Amino acid sequence: MKVFVTGATGIIGKRIVKQLVQHNYEVVGLARSDKNVEQLKAMGALPRRGDLFQAQQLIDITRDCDAILHMATKIPLQAVPKAKDWVMNDRIRTEGTRNLITAAEKNGIKTFIQQSVIFTYGDQDGAEIYQDTPLPDQVSDNLLSNVEMEEMLTQHPSLQYIILRFGWFYSADSAQTQNMLQMAKKGFFPVIGKGQSFLNMIHADDAATAVVHALQHASSLQRSIFNITDFSPISLKDMITAMAKAAKGRTPRHIPRPLARIMTGKAAVEFLTASMKIQPASHFGDWRPKYPDFKIGISEVAKELNNPLSQKAIRA
Ligand SMILES: NC(=O)c1ccc[n+]([C@@H]2O[C@H](COP(=O)([O-])OP(=O)(O)OC[C@H]3O[C@@H](n4cnc5c(N)ncnc54)[C@H](OP(=O)(O)O)[C@@H]3O)[C@@H](O)[C@H]2O)c1
Repeated sequence: MKVFVTGATGIIGKRIVKQLVQHNYEVVGLARSDKNVEQLKAMGALPRRGDLFQAQQLIDITRDCDAILHMATKIPLQAVPKAKDWVMNDRIRTEGTRNLITAAEKNGIKTFIQQSVIFTYGDQDGAEIYQDTPLPDQVSDNLLSNVEMEEMLTQHPSLQYIILRFGWFYSADSAQTQNMLQMAKKGFFPVIGKGQSFLNMIHADDAATAVVHALQHASSLQRSIFNITDFSPISLKDMITAMAKAAKGRTPRHIPRPLARIMTGKAAVEFLTASMKIQPASHFGDWRPKYPDFKIGISEVAKELNNPLSQKAIRA
């Protein structure tokens, strides 16, 4: 089976590529630079140069493929992103997905796996969220493109789509995780209020195994949306405390919400205090996360970052 992967060089994508190669899939990865061509070759994948926003090009490079995995994202790395910082991510979700759907239609590709996020549920006041819990009527501006992306797939008459809504990724090779650990170590990652909002995390390794599982069981999982997180929603206070402990930092201090808004901006505060408890996807077969609890996962990540031998692997 030949699988086309976008975002094949990203945090999640490269893990997926390596696992698919290990499982003897033929993997075709979208590459936008010479560096990524080399990275894909080194992972055992076939690189194809292309642009997500060139519809005909995508039709051409997916011509011999049997499945499409759309994993590309461009999440802004700024601490306080502005609306313009989300434009490319929106484009990848909307125009990119539309072009890939067209390529799938033209080439008779039925299986389409899409990376999505649980954040579209917004603040659910700590409620348990199940696979069939509807999204709220209103979502924040940077998630409108996510809703549009999902609708393009769910309203498609024949595509055998699987949408995986992921929780908050973390891993040793994520710049975001590294920054957060650094901040927690220095005591610069305070808890907002009492820190009672519930967050839902997922180690990047587990996100990748979920994608591979979805592909392996595509015929029974098709035309479905699954929420993929670890199995232990964690309070903001426990999450930051676990980071501080893993980084051998100080016990985090608490700051009031209005001060947090001044320090980090409204969007970051809303993101960190949006509360819900995602329940394990009930029809997702026998997939289980290797790190079912963030406290264990983040201490492994910190150990990995402190080990000079694994530093080389992280950079690869
Ligand atoms: N659920 C979550 O918590 C979540 C979701 C997504 C990202 N993140 C986080 O956000 C941080 C940044 O991640 P990231 O956005 O760099 O994601 P990433 O997952 O590390 O990589 C993004 C992938 O998408 C590709 N890509 C980007 N722009 C593209 C475009 N215009 N056309 C085609 N492919 C494109 C990149 O290829 P190029 O090398 O060619 O750019 C790369 O392969 C990471 O720490 C990640 O963990 C979190």
